[in-house]
Amino acid sequence: MLKEICHEGVYKNYINGEWKLSNTGNLIDIFSPIDGSKVGSIPAMSKEEVDEVILTAKAAQKEWADVPLIERAKILNKVAFLLLDYQKEIADIMVVEIAKDITSSLAEVKRTSDFILFTADAAKQMRGEMLSADAFPGYGKDRVSFVNRYPLGTVLAISPFNYPVNLSVSKIAPAIVAGNTVVLKPPTQGSISALYMAKIFEMAGLPKGVLNTITGRGSEIGDYAVTHDSIDFINFTGSTEIGRHISKVTVMKPLLMELGGKDAAIVLEDADLEEAAKDIVNGAFSYSGQRCTAVKRVIVKEEVADELVGYIKDRVRKLKVGDPRKKDTVIVPLISNEAADFVCELIEDALDKGATLLLGNKREKNIVYPTLIDNITEDMRLAWEEPFGPVLPIMRVESTEKAIEIANKSEYGLQSAVFTKNIDQAFHIANQLDVGTVQINNKTERGPDHFPFLGVKASGMGIQGIRYSIEAMTRVKAMVINFEKK
Ligand code: NAP
Ligand code: G3H
Repeated sequence: MLKEICHEGVYKNYINGEWKLSNTGNLIDIFSPIDGSKVGSIPAMSKEEVDEVILTAKAAQKEWADVPLIERAKILNKVAFLLLDYQKEIADIMVVEIAKDITSSLAEVKRTSDFILFTADAAKQMRGEMLSADAFPGYGKDRVSFVNRYPLGTVLAISPFNYPVNLSVSKIAPAIVAGNTVVLKPPTQGSISALYMAKIFEMAGLPKGVLNTITGRGSEIGDYAVTHDSIDFINFTGSTEIGRHISKVTVMKPLLMELGGKDAAIVLEDADLEEAAKDIVNGAFSYSGQRCTAVKRVIVKEEVADELVGYIKDRVRKLKVGDPRKKDTVIVPLISNEAADFVCELIEDALDKGATLLLGNKREKNIVYPTLIDNITEDMRLAWEEPFGPVLPIMRVESTEKAIEIANKSEYGLQSAVFTKNIDQAFHIANQLDVGTVQINNKTERGPDHFPFLGVKASGMGIQGIRYSIEAMTRVKAMVINFEKK
């Protein structure tokens, strides 16, 4: 059914309520990271076409904002239920397009449906406020300010390959429920999954022009779209490199950015080491480590390092490698050969500089086997760079102060985890970590999706999370009523 959006192998874009091919005829072929087979093609849109789509979204915005909130929320609820009806079809395309294992792909669709239901409810809970002037010196009761939230206009949503459905919807749903219209630029590798998801919005009865898609390489149409005068807000998730670039080329445009990370799991001497190892391995290796919140380094106190590493090693050894269509597979082919090259380059750098290889460092095409490396030191790239692959570096430290120092020395500041039974100590350490979120006795991770989710330093700007996203995509306007003075 969702495949209807495909014409002779080419997937169409959703524009002003219609499914359209590009006039240019230029196509990008999408190949599966699993075996290189062709999944389909997507239009490489021209700048003129992108311009038309953005203007379409802009033109639809006022009318959409006038639709009562309850009606906007009802459409979202329909989207959520339809996503569940088509969960398998969407998950199946994700498996072949981005090689996400089937269990995680199904979970992504379910989580997206839950996200939408929560968003529809949260929007109805949003409140303005009324302020009386007489709280300020020199004013009386004859002046009040009604403060309410209004949509920003047209939002450009740009999502990354690793969550093409969820990280598109986590922008679209809060934006449209608040009365904005949206232009979605999905990741090239991930476009087809995102277009399937867009079809669901059409099926739910979303009025034309409210959600629109543009496909094409970010390097070709990205700058044009982000600098377009009719884009009022950019909600971007992706690499720090592209995030920095967007923030340089855009002027006076509000931005919400979730970028790269180098999340540390700090393990102290009194931690439950078996439990910590379980969380760390899960956090580091699911979807082959291609998650912004993956545990990307372990910083462990020397006195418990051998024991922790033993537990981690036992678990990593058991990770299933291979075909994402099989339900137990954790280590899947990486998104591209270039991604695998980069991971291997970081491993090689560490080994050349004297790190200890415990497991892995084996590669077959774009599959990198789960790799565990001990005795990582500060001169090695793996201490600081984000591999976005299945490699876990271990750094041993003599003191808690050193653990905090190394954690904070990173340019990134997404999340950190602290494993300890001493809650006072955990609180003390959490207070000193320069990150958006500290997980105490859990792996680093984004959900549940109504929690605030943010990165500091090179990991982002602004806050996501259902209520926070709605706030980010609305602005406050005040109406001051001046009553007749008595
Ligand atoms: P990416 O290369 O930065 O791409 C992200 C998106 O930006 C894609 O849709 C891409 O389109 C587009 N893009 C590229 N150049 C652009 C430009 N000049 N202007 C506008 N858009 C442009 O990231 P990725 O490889 O897909 O994802 C992996 C990275 O994302 C990792 O660093 C990861 O940590 C980060 N990430 C962060 C979070 C978070 O919440 N903090 C979540 C997920 C991922 P094309 O695909 O066409 O190039
Ligand atoms: O890749 C980045 C995602 O925002 C991570 O979400 O922690 O639920 O995998 P997750």
